[in-house]
Amino acid sequence: MNVSLEILRQNETTGNKPEYRTYTVEVEETDRVLDALMYITRNIDGSLGFRRSCAHGVCGSDAMRINGRERLACKTLFRDIVDEPPWTREPGEKATQTDEKRSNGQPTIRIEPLMHLPVQRDLMVEQESFFAKFRSVKPYIIPDEEPAEREHIQSQEERALFDDATKCINCAACYSACPILDEKPDFLGPAAIVQAARFVRDSRDKGLEARIDELDNPNGIWPCENHFECTRVCPREIKITKLINLTKREIKKFREERGETVHDGQS
Ligand code: SF4
Ligand code: FES
Repeated sequence: MNVSLEILRQNETTGNKPEYRTYTVEVEETDRVLDALMYITRNIDGSLGFRRSCAHGVCGSDAMRINGRERLACKTLFRDIVDEPPWTREPGEKATQTDEKRSNGQPTIRIEPLMHLPVQRDLMVEQESFFAKFRSVKPYIIPDEEPAEREHIQSQEERALFDDATKCINCAACYSACPILDEKPDFLGPAAIVQAARFVRDSRDKGLEARIDELDNPNGIWPCENHFECTRVCPREIKITKLINLTKREIKKFREERGETVHDGQS
């Protein structure tokens, strides 16, 4: 079948003004959006910019908005999206599916870069601010003792406490989908909190105190209002909102044990 791909272009050829360009590509139902993007760069327009590496849902580099929803281009099949009404989201609101019919005689798919990160070129975004927040939560084990001579034994139950959070591939889909970041760009964001949860919930880690200032402040963990948009778009199906709430609980417990109140900007 033929599909129209409406791609938001932004680079020197458009004078850095965002504009949609439409490309018609013949695809199989089982082709992925990434296959069509690669076809365009090889056969139609070599100036189209997008990132990809593994092409198998592992590296997280090809997250983008496809029909208004954050997805990995390498994991999105045309058969799943050709008849789909696109998604839209007003600033600060949850995403809703429209009843808009976009078609010029063939299925039309809109492809846009992630939100909340500056566009470098076309579908490529500058990721530095995303990774700065990731680094700020100290995403590594902080022990409270010298390394033991033997491995640190951990039970299956202890491992299960943070298993979900280990699945993150840093694709930034959740960061784009988060409605809080629409209005509060300094919010730490879901992905960094998932990383914090991965270590705070690890029995070998004793680093909550070292991370507390980054998490427990009005731009830290507290702005999350449980919109669940991050959880809905995560390609690894991580229960992000649940992890955020569990980490909030850990922070409250930490403060209570010290007779302190949380620094959420309210209290
Ligand atoms: S939590 Fe999910 S959506 Fe967010 S960066 Fe990790 S893998 Fe991507
Ligand atoms: S290219 Fe690696 S996740 Fe899609």
